[in-house]
Amino acid sequence: MKGIVLAGGSGTRLYPITLTTSKQLLPLYDKPMIYYPLSILFEADIREIVIISTPKHIDLYKELLGTGEDFGVKFYYVIQQEPRGIAEAFLISEDYIKEENVALILGDNVFYGDIIYDIIEKGKKIKEGALISAYYVKDPQRYGIVEFDKEGKPSKIVEKPKNPKSNYAVMGLYFYDKNVIYYAKELKPSQRGELEITDLNNIYLEEGKLNVIKIDKGLAWLDTGTPSSLLEAANFIETIQNRQGLMIAALEEIAYLKGFITLEKLKERAKYFENSEYGKYLLRRIKEFENEI
Ligand code: G1P
Repeated sequence: MKGIVLAGGSGTRLYPITLTTSKQLLPLYDKPMIYYPLSILFEADIREIVIISTPKHIDLYKELLGTGEDFGVKFYYVIQQEPRGIAEAFLISEDYIKEENVALILGDNVFYGDIIYDIIEKGKKIKEGALISAYYVKDPQRYGIVEFDKEGKPSKIVEKPKNPKSNYAVMGLYFYDKNVIYYAKELKPSQRGELEITDLNNIYLEEGKLNVIKIDKGLAWLDTGTPSSLLEAANFIETIQNRQGLMIAALEEIAYLKGFITLEKLKERAKYFENSEYGKYLLRRIKEFENEI
């Protein structure tokens, strides 16, 4: 399975913060935001990942993440020329995805909690069709919303409905079979001129091939769209990390635990960052791993 992280968009809701940089590079407490969605793809054992961003920002991602060698993965960088929608991600990364299943994660989506591992396991197993998750939110007007019929089966997904018929928002982590590119090519731009991920999901739904996992409590899906939600998300990360002394989305640590990189490589990276809390954390974990061996 291949992975895509979509880190495009102009981030206008965060202006002037995002006038000179990409939203998904902003700090979420102690790491760039994109580390969090990347960690989810690592957890899903995905080692070939397409990173999509704007012509203005793509080089910043290259500088931050490199070839992927530091994490034992391979990153491919693809430019999205204009913000023409989430579903365009499949068209512009066709050469890398080829005939494989694909997991798409939005570069500003942050997840924390065990349920995400259940979703990953289910997503990895799909043979045919697609898998999305619908999360109970208090402000459904802001998302793609899943409507359910009388039997509780998903009947339709509506993008940013004015009068939402449910509170279940589609999260920005999607799993598709290899037909996704074929379906994406069928899409027509919406009124706002974008190839909508919601339209793509509706195609799978109409074909009876969309699995929807409904999530109520037990998972944190954090919002990073406004200054105050960004701060809240950072505080959340800090709270959990301070309590446990374990970092969320420390990419090198995950890469090591997944067997993507050796302990030697982990040491090299930890040394490189040794002045920061991130580096000190990796050094502490290395000691713990060495004692366990
Ligand atoms: C996008 C999707 C929406 C989904 C959301 C999740 O919205 O269009 O269906 O619920 O991501 O983050 P956007 O972030 O572009 O407003």
